[in-house]
Amino acid sequence: MKKIGLVTSGGDAPGMNATIRAVTRVACLKGLEVVGFERGWDGLISNNSRKLSPRNVGGILHLGGTILRTSRSPEFRKPKGVKKAADVLALNNVDGLVVIGGDGSLRGALELSKVSDVVIVGIPATIDNDVYGTDETIGFDTAVNTAITEIDKIRDTANSHERVFVVEVMGRKRGFLALNIGLNVGAEVILVPEVEHTLGSIVHTLKVNGAKGKKSGIIVAAEGIGDTRRLLNDIEEQAGVEVRLSVTGYAQRGGNPTGRSRLLANLFGNKAVELLRSKQTNRMVALQNGKVTSMSLEEVCTNQKPLDLNLMKLAETLAT
Ligand code: F6P
Repeated sequence: MKKIGLVTSGGDAPGMNATIRAVTRVACLKGLEVVGFERGWDGLISNNSRKLSPRNVGGILHLGGTILRTSRSPEFRKPKGVKKAADVLALNNVDGLVVIGGDGSLRGALELSKVSDVVIVGIPATIDNDVYGTDETIGFDTAVNTAITEIDKIRDTANSHERVFVVEVMGRKRGFLALNIGLNVGAEVILVPEVEHTLGSIVHTLKVNGAKGKKSGIIVAAEGIGDTRRLLNDIEEQAGVEVRLSVTGYAQRGGNPTGRSRLLANLFGNKAVELLRSKQTNRMVALQNGKVTSMSLEEVCTNQKPLDLNLMKLAETLAT
């Protein structure tokens, strides 16, 4: 193996830059040439790359976002786009590719592996933590902490005004963020796409809390549960409490990565180069029970990570 490519794809996640730095520095130390493709799969399709060196990845460890930029590429969803990307890799004499991104990007990596001989390794990086096979993804811890910091402040004003807040956090398809955030801010109600909720049960919880003297509350809702504005109106009407909506939104995708997100970036980046050099293709670097390991991309992409419903029960128990 002489030359490797790097691509960041899909929604950005804090720690992607630390990952680029780790992969580049380890790879260069081992004598490999490194190029970064710009703007996700689009940069690969259009052959837009730049050389990465230990020096030009300096000063990015602590930065959110990705210096390579990213995109969600409609062209790469078509077989023609995937074939083009494979041709660009061959044209550039790239023998190994590291794909840094979430479930969609890892599925893209698997598709690419079907038409390319390049050794492909995925690194799970998404704030959603919804990638099968790894206990945690790069960026998740940062996003959780960003939301916690904001919701702690909302708790202050909720208490003062004796109001209920619906706080919408990211997660269009899955509720890992909402559950982790909800548990750790002591949310009275946590709403995730995986668990059906009824207005009746939310109103019941708020009324029971009110009777106990708990006049304020936090409802953490994943964006994937539907229209939170409408939910707010319904709760106000039926529970007879004042409710406000706060959307944490895209702030969760940015900011300096936490120590934990940086640690994962460093460990995963190092492991990815090890896999490339030993020609272990079509694998994703993973964290399992505290150990850095790997899993086949096929297995990653054909399974769904389960949500830990015990955490939901614990959150309910602790918020009484
Ligand atoms: O996958 C990360 C994520 O931020 C999700 O939590 C969110 O649902 C989605 O991306 C938003 O996507 P976009 O950046 O395309 O608006």
